[in-house]
Amino acid sequence: MDVDDIRAEALGAVDSASDPATLDHVRVRYLGRNGRLTLLVRSLRSLDPSERPAAGARINTAKETVSQAIDARLQALTTEQLARALDEEVVDVTLPGRRQSPGSLHPVTQTLRRIEDIFLGAGYEVVTGPEIEDDYHNFEALNLPEHHPARTMWDTFYLEDGHLLRTHTSPVQVRVMERTRPPIRIICPGRVFRRESDLTHTSMFHQVEGLVVDEGISFTDLKGTVVEFVRRFYDKDVGVRFRPSYFPFTEPSAEVDAQCVHCEGAGCRVCSFTGWVEVMGCGMVHPNVLEMSGIDPERYTGFAFGFGADRLAAFYFGVDDLRLFFDNDVRFLSQF
Ligand code: PHE
Repeated sequence: MDVDDIRAEALGAVDSASDPATLDHVRVRYLGRNGRLTLLVRSLRSLDPSERPAAGARINTAKETVSQAIDARLQALTTEQLARALDEEVVDVTLPGRRQSPGSLHPVTQTLRRIEDIFLGAGYEVVTGPEIEDDYHNFEALNLPEHHPARTMWDTFYLEDGHLLRTHTSPVQVRVMERTRPPIRIICPGRVFRRESDLTHTSMFHQVEGLVVDEGISFTDLKGTVVEFVRRFYDKDVGVRFRPSYFPFTEPSAEVDAQCVHCEGAGCRVCSFTGWVEVMGCGMVHPNVLEMSGIDPERYTGFAFGFGADRLAAFYFGVDDLRLFFDNDVRFLSQF
């Protein structure tokens, strides 16, 4: 076959190729390693040397022409394809979009930050410590020796190696007393763990405990601090009352009730219709506790208090099931 015939045939095939894949086959058939035009070049060998240059030039021109035709066709096919897609795949820009809802701080985190702000403003330092504790710091150093019956006040998760999940953040206070000298003025926020779960108890919750140790600290300092804190927390002049209580690490000890801010003392489901909610435990640090951590109880006295931040959050927001805070249901959480 003559080079012109092959070229004509190739150009015809290019024209009738209706998609890039077919076009590629055409390229292989004419210009590939065994393509028809390529083979023509090899057949030049059989020609008389004097005829070769002219014949070679004709073949090369033909190859060039076909190659350009293929490129042009490919361009046209791509443009056509795009135009068709734009035409067929309609985007309805009037449809409402899918909105991304912005995240927000968990109500307990919000509450912890409010509490920290109040105490930071009063010159307290915020200190944290380990959640996995040893028996000594969680109990013994708090005047709770091994067989002390008051240990049953805390349903404890024990680990196999003898450690435990701290049942309160009091061990952080012990650690601070061990390494610093008075004056001490700290709060210890953090996660604590107890083997219990119902409407008002979860096996993990957040506690904030406070400790002040210095010369001449008395129960009036404790009372003033607690009342001021509760009023600042609720941002309201709520009633606060102290009831005598017992903790092995404080003497005397008290429990603190605040007037229910939801019913203002009238009685509602948040306060179990009593008008009051129990907000914290507190007392004067037991001399044994000071002594065990190397602080002279003849010279120094101190007070301590501790409360559940989640409980305060529940009272503050009017939530009556503590477990809701930890279910991570966005419908619940997005209300805060
Ligand atoms: N550690 C106590 C508890 O978890 C709370 C508390 C702290 C009570 C300080 C008195 C003084 O129950």
